[in-house]
Amino acid sequence: MILFDNVSKRYGKSTAVEDINFKIDKGEFVFLVGSSGAGKTTILRLIDRELLPSSGSVFVSDLEVNKLPKSRVPFLRRKVGFVFQDFKLLNDRTVAENVAVSLEILDRQSADIDKRIREVLNIVLLTEKANFFPKQLSLGEQQRVAIGRAVAGETEILLADEPTGNLDPKTSWDILKIITEINKQGKTVIMASHNVDIVNSMKKRVIEISKGKIIRDQKKSKYS
Ligand SMILES: Nc1ncnc2c1ncn2[C@@H]1O[C@H](COP(=O)(O)OP(=O)(O)O)[C@@H](O)[C@H]1O
Ligand SMILES: [Mg+2]
Repeated sequence: MILFDNVSKRYGKSTAVEDINFKIDKGEFVFLVGSSGAGKTTILRLIDRELLPSSGSVFVSDLEVNKLPKSRVPFLRRKVGFVFQDFKLLNDRTVAENVAVSLEILDRQSADIDKRIREVLNIVLLTEKANFFPKQLSLGEQQRVAIGRAVAGETEILLADEPTGNLDPKTSWDILKIITEINKQGKTVIMASHNVDIVNSMKKRVIEISKGKIIRDQKKSKYS
């Protein structure tokens, strides 16, 4: 469960988001739409505590994120995986090593880590490319590595910030298929997107932001 209770975030005098209220249940798939500068990224970064609200409360499961002591932030981050438009992979590490990053912090046995890497590479369809480096991959494959890394650990929530923004339509759909599969396995997904075709075809809940405010929150909806 993710709950925003009257959340506002200001930078000095300018307001990035204002009076945001929503509740997202475990296992939901939600699109966050709105033009550039509307406040989508701000909302995502408030969930994993990269940002603290100026007022209001953010809850992830039973954790009040804004009151979490610094020492507990890694515990929150384990539950929340983040995927970016520009992938942010480690270019000096292989596909398998990029996925392993989120497992190494969990203090697991190496046999467990290897098993989980194999499972994840199977989900993101990169088994054959385990030992490739990011530069040897297509953009779609690079984004699949990033998704694998984001969900490899104890992730309960996947936050995807315009994950198809750099990809052609066919590749975007390949990425959506994988994200949908991850959602079907029980993980909550919140995806910020400008992709009208994808949002309209999926018929999922849509939260629309304009100038920092929610102007629409609709189940089984479309882009506009
Ligand atoms: N670090 C920052 N300092 C000042 N203003 C910011 C900062 N980050 C975001 N903003 C402002 O907050 C608003 C929302 O930005 P953002 O959440 O990135 O929107 P979106 O992801 O929908 O494009 C914008 O007006 C943006 O300029
Ligand atoms: Mg953004």
